[in-house]
Amino acid sequence: MKLVRFGVSLPKSLIDKFDRLIKSQNYPNRSEAIRDLIRKSLIEEEVQSNQEIVGILHLLYVHHKRELSDKLNRIQHDHHDLIISSTHVHLNHDNCVEVILLRGKGENIKNVSNKLIAIKGVINGKLYTTSTGEKIK
Ligand code: NI
Repeated sequence: MKLVRFGVSLPKSLIDKFDRLIKSQNYPNRSEAIRDLIRKSLIEEEVQSNQEIVGILHLLYVHHKRELSDKLNRIQHDHHDLIISSTHVHLNHDNCVEVILLRGKGENIKNVSNKLIAIKGVINGKLYTTSTGEKIK
């Protein structure tokens, strides 16, 4: 991979704050921190512009209600083309957590995630999104 070096002018107060931040985040140097920031912006753009992305959805729920499990199952089967895998963990007597990996257009992933999170009995759910990695090299 060809590397390009470039200079950036910044107010001293800003770079001092940035240096403190990246030190606290264990970055070895500014270059690595800036590369990550650039990729983060590109990934945000990929997600916003409805490109193919990867989603990681977690759902925390109480399993006792049969309708809840049936509904979770039905919605996932309706969108089997988007779902790569799911892992179910019985946390304790009452609670389960499910981690679902998705791949597809950003909008479709958000729609199915919102449907699952909104089911009555789901205590907490959140979708995390990232790139397939192809467009951020
Ligand atoms: Ni369970």
